[in-house]
Amino acid sequence: MAPRGESTGYAPMAKLTLCFFCIFLLAAPITNGLPLSSDLYYQEGNIRCLRCPAGTFVEKPCTKPDTIGECSSCHTGSTYSEGPTGLDHCLTCLRCRDDQEEVRPCTATQNAECRCKKGTYCPIDHPCEVCLTCTEKCPPGQELQFPCNSTSDSQCGPAESGSWIVWLWLVLPLLLLVLIVVVLCKCRKQCKDDLCCVLITENPGREENPLIPVQLAFAREMDREEQETIFRQTWDLFVEHVPMEKWAQFMRSLRLSDNTVWEAKENNRDNAREQNIAMLRAWYQQNPGDVNDLLASLHDINLHTPARTIASILVQKGDYVEIN
Ligand SMILES: *[C@@H]1O[C@H](CO)[C@@H](O)[C@H](O)[C@H]1NC(C)=O
Repeated sequence: MAPRGESTGYAPMAKLTLCFFCIFLLAAPITNGLPLSSDLYYQEGNIRCLRCPAGTFVEKPCTKPDTIGECSSCHTGSTYSEGPTGLDHCLTCLRCRDDQEEVRPCTATQNAECRCKKGTYCPIDHPCEVCLTCTEKCPPGQELQFPCNSTSDSQCGPAESGSWIVWLWLVLPLLLLVLIVVVLCKCRKQCKDDLCCVLITENPGREENPLIPVQLAFAREMDREEQETIFRQTWDLFVEHVPMEKWAQFMRSLRLSDNTVWEAKENNRDNAREQNIAMLRAWYQQNPGDVNDLLASLHDINLHTPARTIASILVQKGDYVEIN
């Protein structure tokens, strides 16, 4: 049975209230301020009864208005009632679950109190069905601000000092990696005789011995004329990949006379690239060779990397195959 409503029937009794109040003043010891009459009385059918004290329940309601009925004690440890009560039974004590511990035992006047065991918690604004495990470590870049307790998980927040160092440690390796990838890709595309190309073309992986000159052969059957056309097309690659400052040495290793070099320069004054093509053309007229002669000359003067780069581009294009 629930406590009966006390909010009815007060207005007509306004006058009497003062009188009841006087009776109360005489009858009940006042501990802390003046209790409201609704805390002391409840409605039992047509009459108003005084509530039973905390730790008891109403065994029999009163039969005369404004008196107390028969009160019986709750079973200490298993039932309880809080404050003056109009209930005809005591309330059952809370039993702590296995994942909880008892903070306060149940008494006749107060329910037991349970909380999650150490290392677990239940959010205070949720019904606690099961205790959750506390978060042990804060995510990188954050630090513990409040430790876990029975009603709240560990609270992490941005580290107050040195947080930028943490970020640096996270970001720096990533940046380095991106940089390396970019550089490697760039090198593979346009390899000149520089350090990074030495790294990617002459270092690990493929067994490339700079002492063995690269040698090419035509990838398919073709007549002389076509062979010549394709060979002439390779000259651009030599101009592009042999470093400018090594070109003169390259020409000397092809045994091109100084006269011929000078002539080629004179005839193409404003265009260094055309000068170089003209030199190769002159060399070819004097001494009809093939792509392997040019590559061998590069190896002779230790331009292994450009030689390999040119060879691999030609193989990629599909006109040549490597034969050693
Ligand atoms: C548990 O920690 C929260 C903050 O993380 C705090 O507000 C609360 O008062 C603490 N509760 C107890 C019982 O310590």
